[in-house]
Amino acid sequence: MPNPDTTYAPSAEQAKAAHVDAKGYEEMYAASIADPDAFWAEQAKRIDWMKAPTKVSDVNFDLGSVNIKWFEDGTLNVAANCIDRHLAERGTQTAIIWEPDEATDEAQHITYQQLHAHVCKFANVLKEMGVGKGDRVVLYMPMIPQAAYAMLACARIGAIHSIVFAGFSADALGARIDACDAKVVITSDGAPRGGRVTNLKDNVNKALLNDFDTVKCLVVKRTGQQIAWRDGLDFWLHEMEENVSNDCPPEEMGAEDPLFILYTSGSTGQPKGVVHTTGGYLTYAAMTHEYTFDYHDGDIFWCTADVGWVTGHSYIVYGPLANGATTLMFEGVPTYPDAGRFWDVCQKHKVNQFYTAPTALRALMGQGNSFVEGYDLSDLKVLGTVGEPINPEAWNWYYNVVGKGKVPIVDTWWQTETGGHLMTPLPGATNLKPGSAQQPFFGIKPLVLEPTTAEVIEGNDVEGVLVIANSWPGQMRTVWGDHERFEKTYFSDYPGYYFTGDGCKRDADGDYWITGRVDDVINVSGHRMGTAEVESALVAHEKVAESAVVGYPHDIKGQGIYAYVTLMNGVEPSDELRKELETWVRTEIGPIAKPDLIQWAPGLPKTRSGKIMRRILRKIAEDDFGALGDTSTLAEPAVVDDLIENRMNRK
Ligand code: WT7
Repeated sequence: MPNPDTTYAPSAEQAKAAHVDAKGYEEMYAASIADPDAFWAEQAKRIDWMKAPTKVSDVNFDLGSVNIKWFEDGTLNVAANCIDRHLAERGTQTAIIWEPDEATDEAQHITYQQLHAHVCKFANVLKEMGVGKGDRVVLYMPMIPQAAYAMLACARIGAIHSIVFAGFSADALGARIDACDAKVVITSDGAPRGGRVTNLKDNVNKALLNDFDTVKCLVVKRTGQQIAWRDGLDFWLHEMEENVSNDCPPEEMGAEDPLFILYTSGSTGQPKGVVHTTGGYLTYAAMTHEYTFDYHDGDIFWCTADVGWVTGHSYIVYGPLANGATTLMFEGVPTYPDAGRFWDVCQKHKVNQFYTAPTALRALMGQGNSFVEGYDLSDLKVLGTVGEPINPEAWNWYYNVVGKGKVPIVDTWWQTETGGHLMTPLPGATNLKPGSAQQPFFGIKPLVLEPTTAEVIEGNDVEGVLVIANSWPGQMRTVWGDHERFEKTYFSDYPGYYFTGDGCKRDADGDYWITGRVDDVINVSGHRMGTAEVESALVAHEKVAESAVVGYPHDIKGQGIYAYVTLMNGVEPSDELRKELETWVRTEIGPIAKPDLIQWAPGLPKTRSGKIMRRILRKIAEDDFGALGDTSTLAEPAVVDDLIENRMNRK
């Protein structure tokens, strides 16, 4: 059981200044569990409802009748909550600070008034293109203010956005456009990132090549590069905006109308469309943003995620803007022009809360402290991490070198499915333990189960799988177009509970430590990847007969992708073929899915019934084949010796 020698208690001033101190957390948490409906009815008041809800929750986790509804008879508009309601008090306050890829280019400051005008115009353009309530709109965008305008414009007219991370390939984009039957795709000509340009519009053209000649495309001019144009189907945003008004009344939406779909990887099959709705999601995003980061009026908040991930949805756009915050949006990467860029931006914009991923911290830590030391980081009040467990070494570097030993770190555990943080320390309230997500957020009831018997493990100093016993307003409602898959994925293994897919430990003090996925999902640089997706990309190559993909520990990425590949009869393995397969996977899925190691496998270890023994493949990939366990049920035990002998990861 992890048991750090040093914990970090909040200072008296931090505890006093925070929304809640240790005692405050205990009391508020107890109240949230004792009477959840009363608690959440109170929290729902942070939203401006058009019609206030009279019902709070209607939840059933039973397989076959899973149903999750919050505030269901309330009506609201999410964009109005993120913009209009702030105009009277903070119309001239900056809503979005945009920091471009090139450090020498000027940052933009967009006030709430300006945001209102941009979003209204954008919404009218979408209407002009035939988009209405309930229609799906796919965004494939760089990190530019127009990405936020597009999200909020969809929300304003009741359209459902589905953002596809701009690092995904044309094929992956096409599959997602198809899966949600999108009417319009919003993109830009190109996306500068780290000094290089991705040709987004070209990718959209490829994605729309086949039978998609009805899908329109709205293009934001970012780079001015040459692009191929489909007359009658492609439209420039700036041209369309010339002919629309900047008045667009917000649509009245039901609390349970979908706000967005976000595709994420699972342990089987194609990515699933996680559906989040309006009222509960916004309540939860706003509340977690305020408490987890101890956000106060006037603070400058920076989350370095991309809007293509849920982190960007909840903590660049919806949470901060619902709270009337100033949110920073960064187009670039942490290492361009050099490894000091994050700290340069923090200094320049006087950032108060900074939220990033462990993988970025590990990469920066490796470049040395000199990239941090020159900068004035005295405005930082809270540091956050998300995406994977943070190793104590990176935690300590973040705490001591970036935070100068004075700034609390919140290690936030959550998922695309959860809409917002489910476990996290709170600044000013929690005695911090490096590497632990520690305690449940208000209203969340985590349980540790025995993995095979599904029995609840009580007490402390225990380990098992992590489930959540109750619902919370930010919980996903369904898988787009496949409610059965939703039930099966999250409610069938451990009946009556939401199954997270993660393992965890609860230490002697009752603090939680996430130990990682217990399913076939891997976490590469904080990006979630289904091993099945990479496998199906590999076997789609004509020279590949079979493949098995597992994760292995990687110093910077957290986990790397290790692919065992069996070639077609008569195909010779070679370094060129290895390169070819790497490129193949990049085009099938995207650069983040490129295997780090490919091992040629004459055969894969299978049971007599033909099931691949992944446990063995994981061990070999980890270079830990001393304890392979029982291999007697294998059809051909000898293949294991060959795999060990030719393993690619030797410590
Ligand atoms: C999975 C969810 C939620 C935004 C980013 C990832 C892992 C996430 C932590 C953390 C340990 C973490 C879990 C989870 N994870 N945050 N603080 N400590 N593990 O969202 O792509 O939906 O991935 O990321 O394994 O299940 P996602």
